[in-house]
Amino acid sequence: MSKRIIIALDFETAHQAQKLLQQLDPTLCRVKIGKELFTTAGPALVSSVISDGFDVFLDLKFHDIPNTVSRAVKVAADLGVWMLNIHASGGFTMMEQARLALEGLGTERPMLIGVTILTSLVAEDLLQIGINRSPEDQVSKLALLCKDAGLDGVVCSAAETRTLRGFLPQDFCLVTPGIRRPEDSADDQKRVVGPVEAIQNGSNYLVVGRPITRADKPNDALNEFNSAIAGVS
Ligand code: C5P
Repeated sequence: MSKRIIIALDFETAHQAQKLLQQLDPTLCRVKIGKELFTTAGPALVSSVISDGFDVFLDLKFHDIPNTVSRAVKVAADLGVWMLNIHASGGFTMMEQARLALEGLGTERPMLIGVTILTSLVAEDLLQIGINRSPEDQVSKLALLCKDAGLDGVVCSAAETRTLRGFLPQDFCLVTPGIRRPEDSADDQKRVVGPVEAIQNGSNYLVVGRPITRADKPNDALNEFNSAIAGVS
């Protein structure tokens, strides 16, 4: 599989994002646009990044009633994004409706990915919202629900991929943030995994932000990540 690095465009302005993109080759990476950049720059930026040749993962984590989410997913797909995501805790019907909203688009449809349990949540946080189960068990339960609803994969911690690969189909896509090389700062990430280990554990795509976006030479940093994982399976 090629282009396994998804660069997180966590910027405050379209200008900052575009400055970085000018230094990157869309044949060597994909990009992720999340809530901050989308809220400031909107669909116009998404369209412009796509027309520059980049595959866009629209990371808006939709979570609402099934009708609202399926309609949001449809208009996101109409923008031409490559991947988008929804919260698994929105329930089976919400996820199924979201998948059905994409069905008419055939092979051109974006990949639909579930968010299980945010890695910022620990067991105590789950108890506070009435979930009496470990984060790991809840992630597994929700990942299975995503599969049953016909989603293409889940976002998960690279530390969870080996467990998930144990019971999910091989073609179920695992997208993992929290990736750092030994020389990178962990920043605010609590549990980081190296790029090679992440792929060996079963990740399909690695979301990498600051180790590339804050590098003096982002393109060199991207090349290093790509070289490290080339040929690893
Ligand atoms: O800069 P860094 O590599 O830490 O960026 C990781 C990206 O992945 C950010 O956009 C962050 O919001 C996202 N992410 C994450 N952990 C999750 C889900 C998403 O770090 N569990």
